[in-house]
Amino acid sequence: MLNTTVAAVRADGALGSQPLAPRSGFEHDLLAALGQRPRTISPKYFYDAAGSALFDAICDLPEYYPTRTELGILRRHVPEMAECIGPHAEIVEFGAGSLQKVRLLLDALDQPVAYVPIDISGEHLFSAARTLQRDYPRLHTTPLVADYTRAFQLPPLRRQGGRRVGFFPGSTLGNFSPAQALDFLRMAADKLQGGGLLLGVDLIKSPAVLHAAYNDAAGVTAAFNLNLLARANRELGARFDPNQFAHSAFYNAPLHRIEMHLMSLSRQSVTLAGQTFEFAAGETLHTENSYKFTVDSLRALARQAGFTPGPVWTDPDHLFSLHWLQSPSH
Ligand code: TRP
Repeated sequence: MLNTTVAAVRADGALGSQPLAPRSGFEHDLLAALGQRPRTISPKYFYDAAGSALFDAICDLPEYYPTRTELGILRRHVPEMAECIGPHAEIVEFGAGSLQKVRLLLDALDQPVAYVPIDISGEHLFSAARTLQRDYPRLHTTPLVADYTRAFQLPPLRRQGGRRVGFFPGSTLGNFSPAQALDFLRMAADKLQGGGLLLGVDLIKSPAVLHAAYNDAAGVTAAFNLNLLARANRELGARFDPNQFAHSAFYNAPLHRIEMHLMSLSRQSVTLAGQTFEFAAGETLHTENSYKFTVDSLRALARQAGFTPGPVWTDPDHLFSLHWLQSPSH
């Protein structure tokens, strides 16, 4: 079944239908990526419809422990988390996907007032938010289409004296560079003043376990990575041959991160928007980093951003962690 997914993605890419209006953000950033060394592109371009579906499949893989482990920690400790958050909270979720994890939180909270899921992909967000609104009719759900790595505005607080609390699960913080992670946390500490942030991050562990999580046997992570090229073919009329690129993911221990690359299997040239780019055999396009933390390194980073770190919850094997970070009002 999973092989079919890979084939479907490749077949789609090979069809290379209509290019969209020129100079989309994707085209702009991909041109810039191809023109520089090392070649690096933002992971946000993974998430078109096919990419989002492949990502959901990753979360269910036996090797991909983070989703399952984080859900387990949430289930087990959510009463304590709700205690930290307090009554009448407004929950702001950064990069809301299928809105599954937040339900555990909402069910445990004392009269939550509002929920603001933020995502760059509007279509997915609105349909998920509609379903959630049906299940939580008394909660004011206000989806916000925004890139939360840039300036954006939250709707005004619904209730006098209500507390704004961020929810950022999935170790998405680890997909930022250390400088970007600090910027994000500073922005969050500022927007969540008087409340706090419930943050899920992946922990440093055996490289073999980390490696397996990003190199699953069924090849779904590979298909997810390669979908970026298929997407460029579909949307931008690029001419990548996905069969001439391989998924490469490894743990870079000194930098505490999984690196994901697309590696050229041969000497080849690729065209995009009338320009030609040469790839030597073995040359890569760096598509993502996933930084891993220790409990202490995360707390130090949060402190640097202006938070006061509170309780931390982990699983018995210390694979993953959830942190309550308080944001004092000044
Ligand atoms: N942020 C998670 C992680 O780094 C989920 C994720 C993002 C991911 N992109 C991915 C997982 C690509 C696998 C492959 O693990």
